[in-house]
Amino acid sequence: MAHLLHLDSSLRSEGSRSRRLSAHYAKLWSAAHPDGTVTYRDLAVDPIPHLDEAGFTAAFTPEADRTPEQNDSFKVSTELIDELVAADTVVVGLPLYNFSVPSTFKAWFDRIVSERTLGRLTETKLVVVTARGGGYGPGTPREGWDHREPWLRHAVSNLGITDVTFVDAELTLARESPQMIPLDLGAAEDQSFAAALAAIEELLAA
Ligand SMILES: Cc1cc2nc3c(=O)[nH]c(=O)nc-3n(C[C@H](O)[C@H](O)[C@H](O)COP(=O)(O)O)c2cc1C
Repeated sequence: MAHLLHLDSSLRSEGSRSRRLSAHYAKLWSAAHPDGTVTYRDLAVDPIPHLDEAGFTAAFTPEADRTPEQNDSFKVSTELIDELVAADTVVVGLPLYNFSVPSTFKAWFDRIVSERTLGRLTETKLVVVTARGGGYGPGTPREGWDHREPWLRHAVSNLGITDVTFVDAELTLARESPQMIPLDLGAAEDQSFAAALAAIEELLAA
């Protein structure tokens, strides 16, 4: 049975573009897979505790020898890994924070890298729907400053995931940031968001 893992990581509950995009994907995915099941995890509302020494060393310690701290931390990682391994598609709502991914997403990622996932997720499809305040397109002064995509593509290739699609909505601060408001980029923001919604629809129509 088809299974979707749906992750969000925007710190905003109101106005988040990445949440709107991931919800759009999940809705269309569910319509396309009437018997499919979905696991939803909100990494901002319920942050994953950082991988700690107990959790890291637990992976290399025989179960019978683990301390209670190792067991507790390992249990957190195991639940996340179970959710990931069960999914054939993963959709992630991923804002750009300081030119990289939200730390809540990185905390999740550090826990799902394990001998159960490294090189093993060759059948998993990853769709990353993103939002960023500025413009980073070809020829713009900040082209190449968005480090999410190159990092994540490398990081998941280590897990065997090669079916990766990014859908970006940008200029989301056009009407919010005092520096950007005078640039009058509202129409370009709307165009970018509409294109992102359309790209998601195309992915699920395919
Ligand atoms: C902590 C933080 C850091 C941010 N850093 C950047 C940045 O480096 N570049 C950028 O273009 N926008 C940046 N933004 C703006 C967000 O990328 C933008 O508001 C985006 O729409 C957030 O996703 P959301 O709409 O899903 O909440 C930042 C916002 C926050 C809250």
